[in-house]
Order: sequence, then structure tokens, then C-alpha cells
Amino acid sequence: MNDDYLAINAANWDSRAPLHARAYGIERYLADPAALSDVVRFDRALLGDVAGLDTVHLQCHIGTDTLSLHRLGARMTGVDLSGASIDHARQLAADAGADITYVQSDVYSAPQALDHRTYDLVYTGIGAICWLPSIERWARTVAELLRPGGRLFIRDMHPVLNASLAMTVADDHPDRAQQSWISGPGDVTIALEMPYWEQPQGMEWNDEVTYTGDEIVSSPLSVEWNHSLGEIVMAVLGAGLRLTTLVEHDSVPFQPFLGAMTYDPETGEYRLAVRPERLPATFTLMAVKD
Ligand SMILES: C[S@@+](CC[C@H](N)C(=O)[O-])C[C@H]1O[C@@H](n2cnc3c(N)ncnc32)[C@H](O)[C@@H]1O
Repeated sequence: MNDDYLAINAANWDSRAPLHARAYGIERYLADPAALSDVVRFDRALLGDVAGLDTVHLQCHIGTDTLSLHRLGARMTGVDLSGASIDHARQLAADAGADITYVQSDVYSAPQALDHRTYDLVYTGIGAICWLPSIERWARTVAELLRPGGRLFIRDMHPVLNASLAMTVADDHPDRAQQSWISGPGDVTIALEMPYWEQPQGMEWNDEVTYTGDEIVSSPLSVEWNHSLGEIVMAVLGAGLRLTTLVEHDSVPFQPFLGAMTYDPETGEYRLAVRPERLPATFTLMAVKD
């Protein structure tokens, strides 16, 4: 395992935070006291009523989803590794007049950082678990943060999407003779090029540009892991939680494959422009601590 992954990823997210604070359209949350993030708007159908729930948002980044859950009536605590992200989240909450607690911590240390408080709801996702080397350790941490009757809600990138890249097809595939919709020469298609299952060694990336299209001024290095859907489900069950929901979606709230996805302004989500039924892009999983 990459021993220094926490320091590498903290520096990477510290350098992205001010860019995202500009790109995420923070002003609309201040202009409209009822504004919700597209992510939380999407999640509401499965999430249900959160009013009055003691909620911890793991990997809350700059706090736009945290503020949105607060606006739906949840009592919010946000946790993130990146000090710069937490600073932006605190500023947004202060500017919006929202009473939200923010704590800087690695996910795995969150129970100690939160003085072993427990919660009705652990909410997380959209680029969260890919930063963690062990999905089993994550699930045990979530279980520790939940009080009896509490539940986990995660919508995150589907591991199939995390394992995929957009590539241009070079040659005709022989099966095209029978299935004419199979991509042909010159078409952009999605190819499984990266690990689907969790690997001991994380994948190191050196990206000058973040997913909002902005350049990362410093600290472009990051380390990521993928976790298969089976590993996620078994980790949650192994931590003693009862699985209640597992839904795969064909859309994702950012653009993972330039040139291959189209934007749906209704939902704020991207899906494959051609045959979106090919790609599970995100998943929602809910589980309860009995
Ligand atoms: C893609 S963002 C989360 C996205 C969030 N849904 C949003 O867009 O606002 C990933 C976040 O995970 C945080 N993070 C990465 N590794 C972490 C760790 N080990 N513990 C806690 N937070 C971590 C980063 O600092 C970053 O804020």
C-alpha cells in the first residue's frame, strides 16, 4: 500500500478546493436560501426525509452537499481530510447562516475525531471511497459511527466506471456482422482498462486538471483505489449492517469521458450519449444498523 497516500491526497485536495469553490457556483447557495446541490436533489428520491436526523457527511469536500442536507432539516457534521476544503465549507456555512459542524479528519480516524459520537445517518459519496485503500475498514468505520437504527446512504461512482476509459476503436469487430450497434472504426467507446477489484497498491495519477476543467496549480499527484460492487456489499454486510437498497444508475454528476457523455440539465447529470444502457455510472447503497 502507498504509505504516504494520506499526505499526497490531502495536498491534492487542498490544491483543488479553491478551484472548486469557484467552479461549484457557490453564489447560488447564498442568493437562494432554498437552493440544493444537484447531487442532493438526485439523491432525495432514495434518501427520503432527513429532517431532524443527526447526520455525519464523510468526505464532505467544500460543503455544498452538506449545506443542502442541512437545508432539508438534517443536523449536519461534515468530515474531510483536506484542511482547505474544510475552510471553504466553514466559510460557506457561515455566509449562508447555517449551523454546521466541520471536523478535519481522515475517514478511518473519524470516530476518534468525533469523540465517538454516533449518528442516525452516515451520508457519503460522489468520489469518496476511491480515495480509501480498504473498503472493509471503511465499512467498519461507518458501522462504528452509526447508532442502532441508524443508516448508511452512499451514492458513489460505480466501480465499472472507475475501471473504464474512453478510447477510439481501431478495427471492425467480427461480431458487428451480427450486432450492428457494436462500435466501429473511429467511434469512441468505453473500455475496461483499470482494475475493477481492490488492489493492495493504489493507482497513482499526476493530473494537472481537476474534474471541473480547472487547472490544479500545485500538487497534481493523487492515489486512488477501486472497490468492486461485490467487495462493497460484502464489506457492508461484514461490518454487521443490513443491506436495504442497491440501485445502479446510468448517470453521474460530472463528466468522466469527454466526448462520450451528454449533459441532462434536468438532473445535472451526465450519461453516455450512445447506448447509455452499456454503463453503470453510479450506484446507491443503503444499509441499516439493527
Ligand atoms: C470528490 S470529493 C467528494 C465529493 C463531494 N461529494 C463533493 O463534490 O462535494 C472527495 C473528498 O474526499 C476527501 N478525502 C480524500 N481522502 C480522504 C480521507 N482519507 N479521509 C477523509 N476525506 C478524504 C477529499 O479531501 C475531498 O474533499
